[in-house]
Amino acid sequence: MNRGKVLISGRQLTKVFGYGLNKTTAVNEVSFQFHEGEIISIVGESGSGKTTLAKIIMGLLNETGGAIEYKGKPRKLRSHKDRKEYWKDIQAIFQDPFSSFNIFHKVDKLLTDCIKLQGLKLTKEQQLQKMKDACSFVNLKFEELYNKYPFELSGGQMQRLMIARIFMLHPKVLIADEPTSMVDACSRSTILDMLLKLREENNMTIIFITHDVGLAYYVSDTIYIMEKGCIVEHGQAEEVILRPKHPYTRQLISDVPKIHEAWNLA
Ligand SMILES: Nc1ncnc2c1ncn2[C@@H]1O[C@H](COP(=O)(O)OP(=O)(O)OP(=O)(O)O)[C@@H](O)[C@H]1O
Ligand SMILES: [Mg+2]
Repeated sequence: MNRGKVLISGRQLTKVFGYGLNKTTAVNEVSFQFHEGEIISIVGESGSGKTTLAKIIMGLLNETGGAIEYKGKPRKLRSHKDRKEYWKDIQAIFQDPFSSFNIFHKVDKLLTDCIKLQGLKLTKEQQLQKMKDACSFVNLKFEELYNKYPFELSGGQMQRLMIARIFMLHPKVLIADEPTSMVDACSRSTILDMLLKLREENNMTIIFITHDVGLAYYVSDTIYIMEKGCIVEHGQAEEVILRPKHPYTRQLISDVPKIHEAWNLA
């Protein structure tokens, strides 16, 4: 696989919630290197720290320890301007789409905000065209949705709308935290295909977060296996799935019948 340069890396990232007896180490000395155009899956069961790690990478949670480098330099998110610049490049789709939107903003405002975030100066017509294009990319009709509030949309429509935003923003890095959790199997593969198409078009780095090791094998170049806050194994998807080294990875795989067969055949 032809990988680009290292785009974002983490060194011994740690996140501790709470104090004393209520202390939880959600992320424990996690290190990673993600490259331009790479698709990475972070796989682990519920509570293993995946979303916490995603929020640290996004800059929505402060790490307790460790550091992140972006484009070869220490990441700085001190000022509003730093954060705005960073979020031009790094975007996320979270498990619960309702938590990702301002519920008091209608669809057209949510989409025009993307244009503003990019700092583009467009005429009203150009803005409208951009929003329509983004909606049609995800098979939504802008005319039917523009005047609705997020809570008036179905879960699936909402997730498509999040991908429409990504289409407009074309970030360098997309963190997709269980992006298909609220849709049926058919829409799930459509959403995955949309994301893969975005990667093809924009050479986007995609970080998929999932508990589904089969999905990870299907979509990613590289897999990181997370257990109780730690990365216990990582490597090329085929290596990790077909020749797992860590008992936890083996256990995750044994829960997926099809991959288990492939593994035995290998
Ligand atoms: N804001 C918080 N305050 C305290 N503890 C938290 C907080 N957020 C997460 N945790 C704890 O950190 C651990 C990791 O949670 P996290 O949400 O990162 O897991 P996850 O791997 O995303 O799980 P899931 O697959 O269910 O989404 C859990 O034990 C959780 O209870
Ligand atoms: Mg989560």
